[in-house]
Formats: sequence, structure tokens, C-alpha cells
Amino acid sequence: MIIKERTQVGIVGAGPAGLLLSHLLALGGVESVVIETKTRDYCEARQRAGMLESTTVELLREVGLGKRLDAEGLEHDGIYLQFDGERHHLDFRELTGGRWITIYAQTEIVKDVIKARLDAGAAPEFGVTGTEVGELDSSRPVLRYTDAAGLRHALRCDVIAGCDGFHGICRASIPEGGLRVATERCYPFGWLGILAQAPPSTDQVIYARHEDGFALHSMRTPEIGRLYLQVPADEDIARWPDDRIWRELDRRLAVPGWELRTGPVLEKGVTSMRSFVAAPMRYGRLFLAGDAAHIVPPTGAKGLNLAVADVAALATALIRLVRDGSAELADAYSDYCLQRIWRATHLACWMTAMLHVVPGQDEFESALQRAQLRNLVTSRAAATMLAENYTGYAPLGYDPDTRLSPTALWPWVA
Ligand code: FAD
Ligand code: PHB
Repeated sequence: MIIKERTQVGIVGAGPAGLLLSHLLALGGVESVVIETKTRDYCEARQRAGMLESTTVELLREVGLGKRLDAEGLEHDGIYLQFDGERHHLDFRELTGGRWITIYAQTEIVKDVIKARLDAGAAPEFGVTGTEVGELDSSRPVLRYTDAAGLRHALRCDVIAGCDGFHGICRASIPEGGLRVATERCYPFGWLGILAQAPPSTDQVIYARHEDGFALHSMRTPEIGRLYLQVPADEDIARWPDDRIWRELDRRLAVPGWELRTGPVLEKGVTSMRSFVAAPMRYGRLFLAGDAAHIVPPTGAKGLNLAVADVAALATALIRLVRDGSAELADAYSDYCLQRIWRATHLACWMTAMLHVVPGQDEFESALQRAQLRNLVTSRAAATMLAENYTGYAPLGYDPDTRLSPTALWPWVA
């Protein structure tokens, strides 16, 4: 038996993009159903990003998701850039006239939004299988799935939002010729990341270029560190017992007079790195958002922030489409988001190229990397360029009340 149901927006994926989209739509009076293959526990524990742009923080506050973020998030003025055994501080707040960054783990954002959806009586459907999307170029696309109890559903929607990450089914369901551009770049290295019961040895995040590869010292709380090492793309984590990880971090992050605090490793894993952009982010009544549409290497901390920016735009566009019958912003959604996405993609690729050392790279390449880093720590103009791009772009134009005209909201496309 197939259970036939109806909703306004069917959302595939309960990562940050899908969950936040559902929350934002509800604030505009639009109903949605979120379906997710994994369990709630899995989604709430999956270790990923942790660095929020000030624009992301401001949006989360504005939509009622700022309470725990403000109590527990770690607000930073800037970052450290390290190379040639020297560590330099870049003060983003001072360079940008007030913008900052906040450390607050993706796991915590996911927990906060799930709780908000449960409190609103709109629990996501976890543990589904057999997700399919169809009739995408009709005015009533269909989302099919089997729920955790084994019942098959056919959910008729006004719109489907593909928020199912890079490996999801939504982008793959777009018929041939529906995506004009799908560009990809893979890197020959990845990041080995650890979560450690070790108080951070730094007050702000350190990005370090070392002759033997990149290292990053980040954190989650005043007690928990999050650290990364550049390793080969296909590295076997079994080759990295905890003491080898700490030794390598200690070597790559060393500066005179500084000590790395160590502690039990709570979790570790290797993430491969790629850059990918699919466009347009829409096919008929299917809209893509977050990692389903684009992936950046994590060096600029942009993945999560882009997912939030996409759904802020998509929520406004869908509220106007579904509630008010106006397609203007829905039609502009992809072009509007792609400007930010390509800017962030450039930042992420540029920072990746400047800070990672590929085995056997020639002296010319190394000299260019050092010259760029030296420029960033000696030229205010260069540092300001990094600061502006790192801390976020224009405020995220989320507007459930139709207070703002399309021109005021998204100036460069409307
Ligand atoms: P996701 O978080 O991937 O969520 C997609 C959801 O869809 C998942 O829950 C998935 O289970 C679900 N799904 C998939 N297929 C289906 C289906 N068929 N039916 C139903 N549900 C489905 N970014 C940073 O800025 N810094 C970092 O350090 C960083 N580290 C990362 C480490 C890893 C291992 C990965 C994979 C990503 C990392 N990122 C990082 C990127 C950042 O976490 C992502 O950009 C962010 O998760 C994007 O959110 P999303 O909701 O678009 O996608
Ligand atoms: C993190 O805290 O996990 C983090 C910080 C900065 C990055 C990537 C990841 O560029």
C-alpha cells in the first residue's frame, strides 16, 4: 500500500541545509516535510564544520536559533596565519570594521534546529529508505520514500528542495541536459581530523603552512580541541596511531615558546577534498541547496556557511512562490546564490593552494606560496581582502514578511 499525502515543500535531507530551510519556511507560514535516511542520533553526532561567519550568526539569531549559540559559541576576532616558523595574527574585526567569526559546531546547530522543529510539532522523518523524486517539471512534483516502519509514501509537493548533500539522489535525478555546468576539481590530499579531550592551545584558530604539509588548530569548546593535518587523499587512518598524530601536529604547528596541549583522541577520520559547482541550482520544481549543489575544500571554512546562505535565499524565494504566488525570486535563486558560491569557491581554492604542500612540489611553487603569505601579513589591503571574504559577504537576505522588495533584498539580480 502507498500512503498518499500532500505538503507545500518536500525537503530531502536533515543536514543543516534541510533542517534550517524547514524552520525558515515555517516562520513564513509555509509547511514542509523533511525526510532523512540516517537516524536522529547519527545526524546530531556527525563531526563536520565548526566555523561560522558573522553573517551566519546574525541570521541564526534573527530566526530564534541564537540562544545556545550565544551562550556556548566562542567568538573570535580573527585567525593566526603561520609559515616559516612565524605566527601572525590577522584581526578581522579591526580590518572589516566589526565583523567576526564564531566557533560553534555543526552538530550543535543540527541539535538546535531539530529541537526547534520538534517543539513546533514538525519532526523530521528519520531512517527513511528508497527516496525518489519525480515529475519535476510538473507543477506538483512527487517525493516517494519508505518510512522507518516500512510504509511507502507518495508525497505531492508544490516544490521539492534537494538538501541531500553531495552524494544524495536529487542532483542525480535531474535529466540529462538539465544541468548546464557541473565543474569539479579533486585534490591529491585530504585532511586527517581529530576531536580531542585537550583544551585548545590557542585563543584563535591557527592555519599553518609547513614544509611537510598543512596543519590547522581549531577547537569546539574550552575543553575540546579540533585539529587537522594534511595527509594523502587516500590515506589509511590505521597508519595514524594517536601518538603519531600528536607528534606531527606538534612539529607542524611549532613556534618558539609555544606548547601544544595533548589529550585523549575522541574521534578521528580522513576527509578527501574537492571543489564542485553544479548549475543552475534548479530544475523545474526541484531546487538544490548546500552540498547537493556545491562542495568547497574546507580551508576557507565555507561549506556550512554557504549551505546556510543558500537556504536563507531559498526560504524567502519559496515563501513568495508558494504562499504569495510570486515566482520572481524563485527564478532568480540560482543566479543570486552562484555569485556568493563562486566567491567562496575562489577563497577556498586560493587558501588551499597557498597553505598545502604537495610532495615534490618545486621551489618556484613554494616561493609563490610564501610570497602570498608574506603579503597577507604585511599589506593591510591584502589582509582586508582575506578578512572580508572569510567573515562573510553581504547580510543574508531572509525576509518571511515581504517587508523588502526584490530589489532591496537581492540588489544585483532583481
Ligand atoms: P549534509 O550535511 O551532507 O546533509 C545532507 C543530508 O542528506 C544528510 O543528513 C544525508 O544523510 C541526507 N541524505 C542523503 N541522501 C539522502 C536521501 N536519498 N534521502 C534522504 N536523505 C538523504 N565544512 C566546513 O566549513 N568546515 C569543515 O571542517 C568541514 N568538514 C567536513 C567534513 C566532512 C566529512 C564533510 C562530508 C563535510 C565537511 N564540511 C566542512 C562541509 C560541511 O559540513 C557541509 O558543507 C555541510 O554539512 C553542508 O550541509 P548540507 O545540509 O548541505 O549537507
Ligand atoms: C573547524 O573548526 O572544524 C574548522 C575551522 C576552520 C576551517 C575548517 C574547519 O577552515
